[in-house]
Amino acid sequence: MPTRRAILKSAAALAATALPLQAAVPVLRASSGTAQLGPSDMPRTPVWAYGDAVPGPEIRVKRGDRVVQRFANDLPQPSSVHWHGIRIDNAMDGVAGLTQPAVPTGQDFLYDFTAPDAGTYWYHPHNRTWEQLARGLYGPLIVEEDTPPEVDRDLTLMIDDWRLNEDATLHDSFGSLMDWSHAGRLGNWVTVNGEGEYSTGVQHGERLRLRLINASNARVYSLALKGLDGWVVALDGQPVDQPTRAQSVTLAPAQRVDLIVDVTGQDGAEAFLTSHEGDQDYAIATFDVRGEMRAAPLPAPEPLAPNDIPALTGLETARTADLLMEGGAMGGMQSAMLKGEMRSARDLAGEGMVWAFNGMAGMPETPMLSLERGETVRITMRNDTGWPHAMHLHGHHFRTVAADGTFGPLRDTQLIQRGEAIEIAFVADNPGDWLLHCHMVEHAASGMMTWIKVSG
Ligand code: C2O
Ligand code: CU
Repeated sequence: MPTRRAILKSAAALAATALPLQAAVPVLRASSGTAQLGPSDMPRTPVWAYGDAVPGPEIRVKRGDRVVQRFANDLPQPSSVHWHGIRIDNAMDGVAGLTQPAVPTGQDFLYDFTAPDAGTYWYHPHNRTWEQLARGLYGPLIVEEDTPPEVDRDLTLMIDDWRLNEDATLHDSFGSLMDWSHAGRLGNWVTVNGEGEYSTGVQHGERLRLRLINASNARVYSLALKGLDGWVVALDGQPVDQPTRAQSVTLAPAQRVDLIVDVTGQDGAEAFLTSHEGDQDYAIATFDVRGEMRAAPLPAPEPLAPNDIPALTGLETARTADLLMEGGAMGGMQSAMLKGEMRSARDLAGEGMVWAFNGMAGMPETPMLSLERGETVRITMRNDTGWPHAMHLHGHHFRTVAADGTFGPLRDTQLIQRGEAIEIAFVADNPGDWLLHCHMVEHAASGMMTWIKVSG
């Protein structure tokens, strides 16, 4: 029998490793359910969702706060949660097969990390993402500034496209190699915050912060403001140096843009966020202008306070690397390495592989780069395919480097058009194993996936 003293001692030891306030840890449960993605006469859609809602619950913390969430997997397949854009502790990055095993059905995993940067982020599965994301698993993660900008309202708008059948069920074509080798899974039904006809009431002269998040598998949106005057204040969570006037923005998969907009539409009118498709503009969010909050326009917004991202220095002596993006329909790729073996394009397709990075299809066993912590890296990514790609680096934000040496804004996901070459640079200051992949998630699953290692 242990003595009372020994019991007390072990209880104390337990307390030191166990979570404080364990009972209060919020549960992020993924399960199947249904969602009303359109007007009430449209049937509900069977989906997979976090917290029984599409999008999942908005997780909102202050910069520097700890985020603790117990992920509970009630899905019929293993899953994990990736906190997209957070410069996170590697063990919490949620990449099944790299930073943790996938969480089996009926089990859970404790995510516990610090959110170092203010901004607009999101979470989504990182296992069979091409299926799990398309079925509705995503939610916003908002990290507030120490001193948020002055706005009348702060709205998060998560944009997604769904591929629906006539009866509003999800089209069952998840593993379609046709999609995988082309643009990816594109939908036929666009929602904002899970609503096919998103609308909200505003007043003339009201100032809004719009946090736009593209949670689509593969769709690139050309968005425009009508009846709203806008400034871009942040991209992929990170503030831009100077707010820039913008009436339209491009939003590739996984990208975010924070806009500050003033309602210029008159009382009784409608203002819109539109998406340009083909030669038409569709309203994806409607702002019903009712009343007047202020008659005279406000001064242009001030820049948001920058986050503490290491400055890019030593570019002349930085490590350099090339990333050649190949394959896809009409790409003419003849062969590539798969798990250490050279395979013909035809063989590769039989394995569901249709894209390659540097002649390698799928996740290589060794990292594309092994870096010392603190090293500056420059990677030239060349898109030698017939399709655009949205390249995402985990655990870091990078800047593009133009031919004349000037830097672009900080981003974690960069759209690269076909035929385009883009150089990015970043300081590899976050130790661990970090993915670099296309966020057209079908492309990632069929070859466009690699990783870098940053030593501790
Ligand atoms: Cu948004 Cu590798 O992920
Ligand atoms: Cu791609």
